[in-house]
Amino acid sequence: ARLVVLISGSGSNLQALLDACADPAYGAQVVAVGADRDGVVGLDRAKSANVPTFVHRVKDHTERADWDAALTASVASYQPDLVISAGFLKLVGEQFLAAFGDRYINTHNALLPGFPGIHGPRDALEYGVKVAGATLFFVDGGVDTGPIIAQVVVPVLDDDTEDTLTERIKDVERRQLVDSVGRLVREGWTITGRKVTIP
Ligand code: GRF
Repeated sequence: ARLVVLISGSGSNLQALLDACADPAYGAQVVAVGADRDGVVGLDRAKSANVPTFVHRVKDHTERADWDAALTASVASYQPDLVISAGFLKLVGEQFLAAFGDRYINTHNALLPGFPGIHGPRDALEYGVKVAGATLFFVDGGVDTGPIIAQVVVPVLDDDTEDTLTERIKDVERRQLVDSVGRLVREGWTITGRKVTIP
């Protein structure tokens, strides 16, 4: 199966996928990595793995829809079976969702529907919850609202800081992403209402 991964940052989730794809039994290859900004470590990880990259910056387009069209065209050119948002800090638009909405997934560092948005671990810590975690889901038109594929839980410890909780979540988040993507590409999936089933 062909994977396109979208990133905005360090790309440790991308690295976990690249490592998994090195085993032919995994059943997938990262065929391209896209970003919304230059100079991020994740792009270097792609280059080190000889995976082609592309960058589309919102500020290079007068209309957000033009950025969305450019992103859609680049992703489409790689004919992905699955598009994975892994720390990609942009909401895609209508054109992207029309093209890939049935196979665009995102990993989020909180237990949805709690703590959507870009500060999941910080918001969980401030709220005082005793467990936190990560959620993998199909992206719809909302912010972190789509049908859930998988979730994994970690404890929140009394002496946690934003950094320690973030790292504890990311550790299990990467494994969940690799495990679930492998199952999706090898076994397929159905979405009925909000219910995602992997046969
Ligand atoms: C992940 O924890 C993701 O949930 C959050 O950003 C992080 C990306 O990390 N939105 P990395 O770039 O894969 O290291």
